[in-house]
Amino acid sequence: MAVVIDGKQVAHSYRMKLKEEVARLKEQRIQPQLTVILIGEDPASQSYVRGKEKAAKEIGMDSELIRLPAETTESELLHLIDRLNVDASVHGILVQLPLPDHIDESKVIFAISPEKDVDGFHPVSVGKMMIGEPTFLPCTPNGILHLVKEMNVPIAGQHVVVVGRSQIVGKPVGMLFLNESATVSYCHSKTKDLGAMTRQADILIVAVGVPKLITADMVKPDAVVIDVGVNRVDGKLVGDVEFDTVQDVASMITPVPGGVGPMTITMLLHNTIEAAR
Ligand code: GUN
Repeated sequence: MAVVIDGKQVAHSYRMKLKEEVARLKEQRIQPQLTVILIGEDPASQSYVRGKEKAAKEIGMDSELIRLPAETTESELLHLIDRLNVDASVHGILVQLPLPDHIDESKVIFAISPEKDVDGFHPVSVGKMMIGEPTFLPCTPNGILHLVKEMNVPIAGQHVVVVGRSQIVGKPVGMLFLNESATVSYCHSKTKDLGAMTRQADILIVAVGVPKLITADMVKPDAVVIDVGVNRVDGKLVGDVEFDTVQDVASMITPVPGGVGPMTITMLLHNTIEAAR
């Protein structure tokens, strides 16, 4: 039976360290501050944003939530970002995605000052990550890397197979593990024989949003399985991995919820403290 990786516990101990960091900054009269912009009423986004606010408060960080109606225009949003970019009391800016269809997501991401880009989505941040320079790393990929390191899983030379190629998770997580000298393969909806690929993985990272996509026969014995999926099935939160069968094959596995999720917010807090510094 696989060890179930306790993301909540790892996130909690990391946040305790961040809390001390915040206290130290406050002694230097620096009050770390995160501004979150939420447009519209998407229930999942509202729930994510509440989680971010709560986590910020718990470590003594200031956070402001700016709620805007779904009809907000692109130019209104860009003006708001311009204002926050020059506001010295704001250290981090996060625009919750997805945005309504009439707003160009890339334009919005480009508009955020790279110095306040705590999501790590700005092309300057992405470019620096690509060449391995210090920068704001995207929160979910960095949370996964931290979790794997915390479990003392060897990375260099290991075969990491990433299923999914989103800008937020799949693509960057492969890059982070490549920077750690893993051998990295990407799979996606056009991959011909998914099982043949995933069975080669020493570390299998799945981020596609398809419940039960990964079954036990697709996992190499003793692989480490990281499930990034967040799917609601019959009112219940489930990942992309068929947990009950895969846990008999894998050596370690992240649960959903309580695996990767808590790490994402933790890395956002980490980035905001870096921005304040
Ligand atoms: N929507 C889903 N995940 C994320 C994230 O990490 N950052 C932002 N800004 N929006 C998201």
